[in-house]
Amino acid sequence: MTLRIGVLASGRGTNLQAILDAAAGGLLPAQVVVVISDRAEAPALGIAKARNVPAFFIDPRGLDRATFELQLADCLDRHRVDLVCLAGFMRVVGKVMLERFESRILNIHPSLLPAFPGLDAQRQAWEHGVKITGCTVHFVDRGVDTGPIILQRAVPVLDEDTPDTLAARILKAEHLAYPEAIRLFAEGRLVREGRRVRVLPPEACRERNL
Ligand code: GAR
Repeated sequence: MTLRIGVLASGRGTNLQAILDAAAGGLLPAQVVVVISDRAEAPALGIAKARNVPAFFIDPRGLDRATFELQLADCLDRHRVDLVCLAGFMRVVGKVMLERFESRILNIHPSLLPAFPGLDAQRQAWEHGVKITGCTVHFVDRGVDTGPIILQRAVPVLDEDTPDTLAARILKAEHLAYPEAIRLFAEGRLVREGRRVRVLPPEACRERNL
């Protein structure tokens, strides 16, 4: 069965592009069926349209969070989305979305969580002087970048790095990590045990007929 993905993105959309490429290349048993942005001018919307993926702007201005999320959730449901992927979606997800898509919302963050949550994580890591940073794909919960971790990729910080060169290297790691995490989800290989997420080997899923 092909997993139906809805992507929420506020910005340039390179992670969206990586997910679309992986799906088109047959690397994911999944298909992006809708892209939604909270910013009318987000390049992510153009990327979706260029691939003939339905793309929508939902204007958050003047709406409280619950009302905005109701519109988001209804649009995702109309497209029969199984999994929601936040890809540079710069909003905290609230109760409406979390209840409608329980355990079915993923996020990518450009640091090795729980270090450097929130905005500008790459610069936070660079300023702190860590030697290794990276990216994290996690289930979304009520907190900011606090949900159960699915996978992480490490990226070394080089002496000659600037925040921008570091962010560019982390972004390359993100483009591998996000499709990989989605593939594990699509294959039914993620088992949540409290905060811990166990990744089942492929044969375990064949045994469970997934
Ligand atoms: C990515 O680096 C992503 O990890 C980050 O925003 C960027 C979006 O880039 N997300 C967060 O910081 C969320 N806390 P993209 O629009 O090119 O995918």
